[in-house]
Amino acid sequence: MRILNFGSLNLDYVYQVEHFVQPGETLAAREQKMAPGGKGLNQSVALAKAGAEVFHAGCIGIGGEMLQALLEENGVHTEYLCKVDGLQGNAMIQVDSTGENCIILYGGSNRMITKEQIDETLEHFSAEDWMVLQNEVSNLEYMIDKAAKKGMKVVLNPSPFEAFLEKLDYNQISWLLVNEVEARQLTGKTKADAVWNILHEKYPGLCLIMTMGADGAYCFTSQESIYQEAFPVETVDTTAAGDTFTGYFLQGMTKGLPLKECMEQAAKASAICVSREGAAGAIPTKAEVKNLSSREELDDVTRTDAE
Ligand code: RIB
Repeated sequence: MRILNFGSLNLDYVYQVEHFVQPGETLAAREQKMAPGGKGLNQSVALAKAGAEVFHAGCIGIGGEMLQALLEENGVHTEYLCKVDGLQGNAMIQVDSTGENCIILYGGSNRMITKEQIDETLEHFSAEDWMVLQNEVSNLEYMIDKAAKKGMKVVLNPSPFEAFLEKLDYNQISWLLVNEVEARQLTGKTKADAVWNILHEKYPGLCLIMTMGADGAYCFTSQESIYQEAFPVETVDTTAAGDTFTGYFLQGMTKGLPLKECMEQAAKASAICVSREGAAGAIPTKAEVKNLSSREELDDVTRTDAE
């Protein structure tokens, strides 16, 4: 069983600001950095660090070579990445003094994935394999349809949310991972139970993860529902917390761990991630996640990283 992430790769331009810039305002950033990111890349790095065998497919555009190198350094297979003649996808990220972020995305190369590339890549995968997707790529509906028809398990993080996502056939999806905002955009509801009831009634085969930041996360399947508390942490930067959760959760699932363990390792990994700056660079190793069993240890991880 292998995992194929047909996903975005971004150059993240990160600006540390006192507050998010307001309409008409010009704001000086305290610091600026460029770092590897993209929901797809972050998820692949988290999956690989957690111990999964993951193949990342997508497009490398102009300026994106370092993103492929980063995937390879982390043990992600990259033979299904294609080079395209367009600007690498990128993101402009403001991080405020509370660690919250807001993001403007430019799809660039991530929106140059063609149906032919999808068909060719999927030829190398079979019904035992899993497909991981986010909404930062072109031809998303085609990918879902093709993978589902092959019998692959499809995992979707519908982020960033767009209106067309309301019309997807979620019967083709095995796991849906949303945050509170995406849950509301999709169902009109904010409470996890209500979100689940709506989705479960319409799509009985779908399983759901709803993450709620510091308020923890819910996991629902037709057999069980689990609430996982968030590990308390001093928030430095929430970027990639959801991607880290996704990667660590799925690694556990694909290795057959009990749901509760999958949720716990995902919550630990994303807690460590928010205690550090950056996206892919903030994702912890399996050893860091494993060793984290108490608040004191979390403080140590945070301190060690900051030193
Ligand atoms: O989820 C975080 C990611 O969202 C960032 O790395 C940025 O590239 C955007 O895609």
